[in-house]
Amino acid sequence: MTGGQPIKLGILVSGNGSNLQAIIDAIEAGGLDARIACVVSSTPGAFALTRASRHNIPVVIHENRGFTNRREYDAALVKILRDHGVELVILAGYMRILSEVMVTAFPNAIMNIHPALLPAFPGLHAQKQALDYGVRFSGCTVHFVDCGTDTGPIILQSVVPVEQDDTEESLSARIQKEEHRTYPEAVRLFCEGRIRLEGRHVRILP
Ligand code: GRF
Repeated sequence: MTGGQPIKLGILVSGNGSNLQAIIDAIEAGGLDARIACVVSSTPGAFALTRASRHNIPVVIHENRGFTNRREYDAALVKILRDHGVELVILAGYMRILSEVMVTAFPNAIMNIHPALLPAFPGLHAQKQALDYGVRFSGCTVHFVDCGTDTGPIILQSVVPVEQDDTEESLSARIQKEEHRTYPEAVRLFCEGRIRLEGRHVRILP
């Protein structure tokens, strides 16, 4: 919070990690008063791990091998995050669905970014869903994570136009550019103590 110690982030990844990079860059540029306590990857070869190591951020690979169910896996994940003192969990291209074990361990302190304007097009391949539907605008949504799929309270959204000749790749690239601006902004609001949750409404304090 403002004036105190920087909030400790735990960032969960599975792939490229461009959103992780955007958060690292925002912190290093002085625009975000937070510290990344650890990056946890569900996949060993994720490029996000390379990005984290380049910035001397502790990384943990947490595969599902050896766990019989999602709850057990998540209980171990909670322990990793707690051991690193994590206060806010950031899902950044994390390809696993969280069980209530994670959701209840970090109440209103897990954020996700989704590449569509929720509640439209939740789940996988959101950009393709938007193109197939024929919408004129799409974008990205940062939201708190609850036990549903992309159903939690919405923190910020950014809109991008859909062009006539867009492919899944071109639309995804346009949305990602907005993600990299929007996600650090949402994290900053949290770190500044400016987010208040009223039911499923997120109030942003001045
Ligand atoms: C982003 O498009 C995000 O919206 C979705 O997963 C993707 C992650 O990309 N949740 P990256 O790994 O941050 O580059």
